[in-house]
Amino acid sequence: MDKSDELPKGELTVRIPAMPGDANANGDIFGGWVVAHMDMAAGIRAAERARGRVATVAINTLTFKKPVKIGDTLCVYTSIEKVGRTSITLAIEAWTQRRTSRRESKVTEGIFVMVAIDEDGRPFELPAETLG
Ligand SMILES: CC(C)(COP(=O)(O)OP(=O)(O)OC[C@H]1O[C@@H](n2cnc3c(N)ncnc32)[C@H](O)[C@@H]1OP(=O)(O)O)[C@@H](O)C(=O)NCCC(=O)NCCS
Repeated sequence: MDKSDELPKGELTVRIPAMPGDANANGDIFGGWVVAHMDMAAGIRAAERARGRVATVAINTLTFKKPVKIGDTLCVYTSIEKVGRTSITLAIEAWTQRRTSRRESKVTEGIFVMVAIDEDGRPFELPAETLG
């Protein structure tokens, strides 16, 4: 285990249990299920910052480090790395908690780019960040 595995980075945005219906033929959880929840978490965090709708424009450097098992709780952490004119780049980490232990381990990490979009699906300029 390297040092970066010791503690999750960012805000806990999504927690969800992995169910038998989410498993692949090996009995582990589908990578797509994990990515869907990372995408959801990125969307929640980016929409808060944008104060409006967002869409995923890119997922970069996605790495699956460990399998997720049935019964694990998936915990997704989000950090805003960069805010552009219309886009928000987030580092997303997925960690799992085994049923038998409260200790978490990092299973997947990636960089998600979200774009603020208006009612017509066109990018809009992000508002300035304000407190509260
Ligand atoms: C998101 C979308 C509205 C952007 O429209 P667009 O015409 O490409 O917009 P722009 O070229 O003006 O780019 C908008 C922002 O995204 C960034 N961007 C675009 N493509 C990117 C990529 N591949 N990687 C990283 N950033 C990207 C641009 O740099 C720009 O950021 P900035 O304003 O902060 O500088 C459009 O591409 C779209 O609707 N995509 C589908 C979204 C979707 O359905 N997602 C779910 C996937 S199932």
